[in-house]
Amino acid sequence: MTTPAPELLSLRDLHVAYRTSEGRLPAVRGVDLVVHEGEVVGVAGESGCGKSTLASTVLRLQPKNARVEGEVEVLGHDVRAMRWGDLRALRWAGASIVFQGALHSLNPVHRIGRQVAEPIRTHEPGLSRDAVDRRVEELLDQVGLSASRARAYPHQLSGGQRQRVMIAMALACRPQLVVADEPTTALDVMVQAQILDLLKDLVHELGVGLLIISHDLSVLADVCDRVLVMYAGRVVESGPAAEVFADPLHPYTAALSGAFPRIGDPAARYAPAGLAGDPPDPRDLPPGCAFAPRCPRAVEECTHGEPPLLQVGGRPVACLRAGSS
Ligand SMILES: Nc1ncnc2c1ncn2[C@@H]1O[C@H](COP(=O)(O)OP(=O)(O)OP(=O)(O)O)[C@@H](O)[C@H]1O
Ligand code: SF4
Ligand SMILES: [Mg+2]
Repeated sequence: MTTPAPELLSLRDLHVAYRTSEGRLPAVRGVDLVVHEGEVVGVAGESGCGKSTLASTVLRLQPKNARVEGEVEVLGHDVRAMRWGDLRALRWAGASIVFQGALHSLNPVHRIGRQVAEPIRTHEPGLSRDAVDRRVEELLDQVGLSASRARAYPHQLSGGQRQRVMIAMALACRPQLVVADEPTTALDVMVQAQILDLLKDLVHELGVGLLIISHDLSVLADVCDRVLVMYAGRVVESGPAAEVFADPLHPYTAALSGAFPRIGDPAARYAPAGLAGDPPDPRDLPPGCAFAPRCPRAVEECTHGEPPLLQVGGRPVACLRAGSS
């Protein structure tokens, strides 16, 4: 029997609710998720389903109006209970996050090399200037950029090159876990494929764990070992990526999977092809299954209570009718 790879990230019964002027907004509702060493796990779902909220809890980066409940463990540390100094050390060196929209967050007046070097200098202040420069070159090489790019300013790079820089920065302090929130949404289809291949290769080469978030299930099907599909803050289906994509059991996953022809289209995050309507307001969820108002398979019983995650065809699925014709 093979020993399972160590758990790098474990979220157990995670709940996140925001305090808003219009009341409590439950953005994440009871999510369980594990990422093992050397594993790529994807989270898919439409805009507003709670993906970034979930990602923000991994390193306790959620906004002040968020209330988190449940377990968040990174590299064996209880992130919710950690002291600030320990948490700071864990950020970058233990786990790092490529934020949604990070592509535009590079400082326009500083050269690329300086920006990649910054986290290294912060976390390894004793390193000589030469050693930092060598590490920056090595990182740029790892993400497929020539060393000369270190002297460039962000505006001199293409979108794809800037995203490579963001990935180099995320890897700068040799983290064991990387979280990438919509790392390719702003890129065209060709560049998107290159960046995803790069991420996948790096995971295997460096043996890190990767949690990758995207509205585009087809993107995740290509790169992930496992995927979780979220709807209205809950996981509605999870399993091996290729299986979930090719044989979706939840009607919502089927709709996301049907969005395939629109690969790379950022607008697809707002409504997958063929799926009418919008996701519910988390402050005003419909009774029963949150997907019922849009579900082509809904029956009266679906409105009676929220369907639990049950094993169907070897996968957890939250649908009363999954597996039945
Ligand atoms: N700081 C906040 N305060 C109040 N509500 C918030 C806050 N951040 C997010 N929300 C709400 O929480 C819900 C989940 O948002 P989140 O950003 O996690 O979704 P997402 O799945 O990442 O969407 P997208 O694909 O558009 O990035 C949404 O209803 C959103 O409006
Ligand atoms: S429980 Fe009912 S409404 Fe919900 S996804 Fe299944 S069939 Fe559709
Ligand atoms: Mg988001």
